[in-house]
Amino acid sequence: MSRVSLTQHVHHTLLPHFRPGCIAIDATAGNGFDTLFLALHIGEHGSVFAFDIQQQAIENTRKRLSEAGLIDRVALICNGHESMAEHIPQLLHGFVDIIVFNLGYLPKADKSVITQESTTLQALKISLKLLSKEGYISILAYPGHPGGREETESVKTWARSLSKTSFNVFIHEPVNSGCTSPEWIEITSMAT
Ligand SMILES: C[S@@+](CC[C@H](N)C(=O)[O-])C[C@H]1O[C@@H](n2cnc3c(N)ncnc32)[C@H](O)[C@@H]1O
Repeated sequence: MSRVSLTQHVHHTLLPHFRPGCIAIDATAGNGFDTLFLALHIGEHGSVFAFDIQQQAIENTRKRLSEAGLIDRVALICNGHESMAEHIPQLLHGFVDIIVFNLGYLPKADKSVITQESTTLQALKISLKLLSKEGYISILAYPGHPGGREETESVKTWARSLSKTSFNVFIHEPVNSGCTSPEWIEITSMAT
């Protein structure tokens, strides 16, 4: 039996959150797998804004989306996700349906270029302002690399502090696979 990866699990969980004309943000484009998944499901009138600080990641994502014939649905932004409010048109603030973070480093590239606790938290706080009512944020965090545990714990502490009347928060932690396994945080904005 093939094993379902945590990324596949996240993608499956995103499915009910898509609607026609969906606005999505990939906060960490990397090799473009998440951007591609978002672009596939937003429909022809939707848009994805994908951020990465590495030009290589942006080019990898551009290639993947071009090959899939979906590049027209995606804006690729070579800049930190902490600047996302400046790049998302003002009229979309408060109307973003889905935001995904896949933290850490670009696989098969320089492992010293990683997401950082302080800018990740900045970006998450901004994400709440961009999010629509019933909008959804997924964060995959990797405690296994240097700085990863601190970043993961900070994200979880922040998520736990969110108002329970405004947000539903789920934290998925491994209980039998070691302390370096990825962790997954889901945040849904409540309608009222
Ligand atoms: C685990 S990878 C993302 C994987 C990607 N979502 C995919 O589907 O292939 C993490 C990415 O975050 C990027 N990154 C690091 N700091 C960033 C920041 N401040 N803003 C945006 N991206 C950042 C890295 O360059 C790296 O490409």
